[in-house]
Amino acid sequence: MRFPDRLRFAAAALALALPLAASAGAEDVRNQVIAQQKERHPSLAPSDLAAGSAAFDPERQAEAERNRPAPGAAEAIEAGKRIWTRKFGKGKSLAGCFPNGGRRIATAYPQYDPRVKRLVTLETAINQCLKTHGQPLLEAADPQTMGAVLAYVRSLAVAQKISVRAGSAAAEQRFEEGRRLYYTRMGQQNYSCASCHLGHSGNFFGNAAVPSPVGTATQWPWLREGRPVTLQMRIRECLDRMGAAPFPAGSDELAHLDYFLTYLSNGLAIRPNAWRP
Ligand code: HEC
Repeated sequence: MRFPDRLRFAAAALALALPLAASAGAEDVRNQVIAQQKERHPSLAPSDLAAGSAAFDPERQAEAERNRPAPGAAEAIEAGKRIWTRKFGKGKSLAGCFPNGGRRIATAYPQYDPRVKRLVTLETAINQCLKTHGQPLLEAADPQTMGAVLAYVRSLAVAQKISVRAGSAAAEQRFEEGRRLYYTRMGQQNYSCASCHLGHSGNFFGNAAVPSPVGTATQWPWLREGRPVTLQMRIRECLDRMGAAPFPAGSDELAHLDYFLTYLSNGLAIRPNAWRP
């Protein structure tokens, strides 16, 4: 499905989606986005907005409640656990690469790694471990493997608060890169992520209300028709619908967008494996 062509934005809505001053740091940007969304949706708390479309749509909300726990979530978590604990030989496993077997690690990703001078997403961290042990890597866009592993690892951080950091100049630069992409118009329809998600959050596009970016990194992977959809997979779907060639799975661009959006969700509890239609 494409976004409806007939949709044209009002000038007022566009003004809301204008980029902030490029010099603003991650924390300023986060506060401004939260304030702008608070003004748009005064009765909704950030934790309500985390529900995505359902925050603005009572019918969708009722359906979400009927689908809690989401069909397929238990199976995805179980499949992910099997991959996570599988021994590579010499007693090593994915679980062994992370502190406490991976418990609560999901709160801190993406994170900037000064040694490799790159942003490390959960996907990259998992593949780094596999690479170190000479194992085949997981495909970031594959729901059955990477999706399932992330369903499991994020389930190990349920109710923990997201606490992604931007403590250094290099990390701030990656955040700024994500912010810039979010505000850049792309694709045949010349939309930016911001023009929809900031300027039009809560408005209906076809039969779905546009989710707010506040809390958007809390509930993934989302379970759709029983299959886990990661944040990066979901971003690629929106790019596709914008008529833009989606950034490749595992690319730096997706990592930057992931970092930007997850930073905006700082302080909110991880509630993964939520149902989406
Ligand atoms: C034309 C409007 C539009 C644009 C542009 C757009 N999106 Fe979306 N996006 C939507 C709609 C509508 C949904 C909800 C679909 C549904 O749940 O049925 C959505 C869903 C999402 C979600 C999932 C939220 C949730 O809780 O379910 C994320 C994350 C997201 N978009 C990120 C992005 C990013 C990043 C970009 C830019 C690369 C982008 N979107 C561009 C309209 C848009």
